Amino acid sequence: MTGDVTRVSTDFWWGAATASYQVEGAVDEDGRGPSIWDTFAAQPGRIADGSSGAVACDSYHRWSEDLDLLSGLGANAYRFSIAWPRVQPPGHGGVNPRGVAYYDRLVDGLLERGIAPFATLFHWDLPQPLQDAGGWMVRETAERFAEYAAVVADALGDRVAAWGTLNEPFVHMALGYAFGTHAPGETLLLDAFAAGHHQLLGHGLAVQALRASGDVPVMLVNNLTPVRAASASPEDAAAAQVYDAFHNRMFLDTVLRGTYPDELADAAGAVVHDGDLATVAQPLDLLGVNYYNPTLVKAPGADNPLPFELVPIEGYPTTGFGWPVVPDGLTELLVGLRDTYGDALPPVVVTENGCAYPDEPGPNGSVDDADRIAYLESHVDAVGAAREAGVDVRGYLAWSLLDNFEWAEGYTQRFGITRVDFATGERTPKASYAWFRDRIARGW
Ligand code: BGC
Repeated sequence: MTGDVTRVSTDFWWGAATASYQVEGAVDEDGRGPSIWDTFAAQPGRIADGSSGAVACDSYHRWSEDLDLLSGLGANAYRFSIAWPRVQPPGHGGVNPRGVAYYDRLVDGLLERGIAPFATLFHWDLPQPLQDAGGWMVRETAERFAEYAAVVADALGDRVAAWGTLNEPFVHMALGYAFGTHAPGETLLLDAFAAGHHQLLGHGLAVQALRASGDVPVMLVNNLTPVRAASASPEDAAAAQVYDAFHNRMFLDTVLRGTYPDELADAAGAVVHDGDLATVAQPLDLLGVNYYNPTLVKAPGADNPLPFELVPIEGYPTTGFGWPVVPDGLTELLVGLRDTYGDALPPVVVTENGCAYPDEPGPNGSVDDADRIAYLESHVDAVGAAREAGVDVRGYLAWSLLDNFEWAEGYTQRFGITRVDFATGERTPKASYAWFRDRIARGW
């Protein structure tokens, strides 16, 4: 293992996660440049409630209140992301000191409170000038990402506890480039593969840049899902295999083994250069796993241009977002990772897990979100089961510390353990916050 995961000493990382565009606001302040999400949100019809992250939770100004919430929780880790357009507004070149100063304050504030800063470099807010040059569809963006990683490492690497390179490259490829429901809104279907590969290449180059700059543990953060076939038919089983290749193994086999899954050989042939996979497969100190639910897949209908079709999972309770609540899926996923990748799997941190419910404050202002408590408790237990099965899980970070800008859903889906009144910015810890505080205090 390169780097020292125990830099802030702990047995287990307990905490919460957020992302820059979802909480910061202040999109025009201190020299921040536009990101693809500012552009996308401004297009009519893109965001469910017509909103944007222009103000969001205003964490750019209220950060110390947010850090106090983490302290009150007893958290020893906070996963936040750095807005590339704050640090390098054009997406290349010198650093914007006023943008970096915000993350200086945040990181110092965390360390003062004894909380380990887990910094993600890219949680989907690409500088717009890089999108104008082709975004992740072009290889150059991977090189720009490594330069940006070096700049950030230079500024914060003396204090950050762990780096995350990319957040969920699958989701960014699929929703941003294949289906167009997220920024940058491209609808390239399978041709979006290039946006996935260039993210992976950027990840590998960024890991090299981070290592060159210091000895901080590095991880990739993947969205992973156990994939199930809708029936026992060979057609559904084959479709499930292909979906699993795109969603999971494209971002695991490459990084942990230096190979693309066989199912993706055709797609890779057109995009991957000699030597790319060696760059992508840099040793990692940790793997970040974001888990929400399993996925059910059937063979595509005749008019479907894709080699799979997703079907709703029946028979489970659902969150306010309509997502099935399947805690066992998290144990299955973690045990499956260990069984599949063996010694190639670094220690795992559950870097996101949580649920949206339409919770409303009661007459006294408190939010009694019993459904979120049940969700979090069952998923923490699922992590415990994986640990008992011998999987090296080192942390659990709830999504999210705050209700925030939920991408294409705007402010209509609340994932926070803290309620945010988006008119005033006021934060109110929900019942799930108190539950999580007590759970953290108990430890394993
Ligand atoms: C993302 C978060 C998002 C959450 C809930 C994850 O895919 O990393 O940014 O808010 O899921 O949709």
